[in-house]
Amino acid sequence: MSAPERIPPRSVTPPPDAAGLLARGELTVRGRIREASNAALYCTVSYDGQEAACIYKPVAGERPLWDFPDGTLAQREVAAYEVSEATGWGLVPATVLREGPYGEGMCQLWVEVTPEAELLALVDGEEPEPGWKAIGFAEVGEGRTALLVHADDERLRRLAVLDAVINNADRKGGHLLPTGGGRLYGIDHGVTFNAENKLRTLLWGWAGEALTEEAVGVLEGLRKGLAEGGPLAARLEPLITGAEIDATRARVGALLASGTHPEPSGEWPAIPWPPV
Ligand SMILES: Nc1ncnc2c1ncn2[C@@H]1O[C@H](COP(=O)(O)OP(=O)(O)O)[C@@H](O)[C@H]1O
Ligand SMILES: [Mg+2]
Repeated sequence: MSAPERIPPRSVTPPPDAAGLLARGELTVRGRIREASNAALYCTVSYDGQEAACIYKPVAGERPLWDFPDGTLAQREVAAYEVSEATGWGLVPATVLREGPYGEGMCQLWVEVTPEAELLALVDGEEPEPGWKAIGFAEVGEGRTALLVHADDERLRRLAVLDAVINNADRKGGHLLPTGGGRLYGIDHGVTFNAENKLRTLLWGWAGEALTEEAVGVLEGLRKGLAEGGPLAARLEPLITGAEIDATRARVGALLASGTHPEPSGEWPAIPWPPV
């Protein structure tokens, strides 16, 4: 999407201590993001001569969700960032909880999207071409169906593992942000960490396939961090419930025990709607 007022980024690399800048900097609202389902404001944050663009979602602007009664969506967004940081994959832009002009909210570094090769496509036929992974069949009108596919992309594969850990209930195409320099970020993590299985995603292409060796190593690290008294458990404690931390630990354990990417629990993969 286009930001309401374009602030030219100083550089494509995030500031060295982006989380510190977001937490301590002076927050100035520049505009409202119209596409958002909750109140989302495009802002700049500045501190000590450094400036960055960010998105600020005040808790006061959150629509209550019956299936996420505890805590706030903002806290879940920060918890998703904490897990992403613990993986070392840096898949979620720096995200903090802080006070702002409309009260407490989440503040996340704005990512300048650089359009790149398509990550999603609808194709004819039963099988994806090489370089693509099948998600499922989708109705495309007039009784026709087409195969929905996503790119067989290492970054998406890591994100699929992160989503399985955080139990992401809303991984759609618009939440995949490619940037210059070949990075890819995932955003919009308000509906995550439910204690019940709610994985709803487009990234089903590796379902049932063996996890990469790299992913297994990362999951082992998460298991240590999430152990009773572990550093990641401590960071999640103020953000999500004890039952949700237990469930996160259990999901990591289950992924390691199976050694495979999770499979959809129903007959049809659980796909967010609309998918983009
Ligand atoms: N960190 C970010 N960097 C760049 N664009 C973002 C970022 N966060 C959100 N956006 C843009 O703002 C839109 C709305 O944000 P989103 O997190 O999806 O809000 P909501 O929780 O209301 O669905 C996104 O679809 C995306 O285009
Ligand atoms: Mg959204």
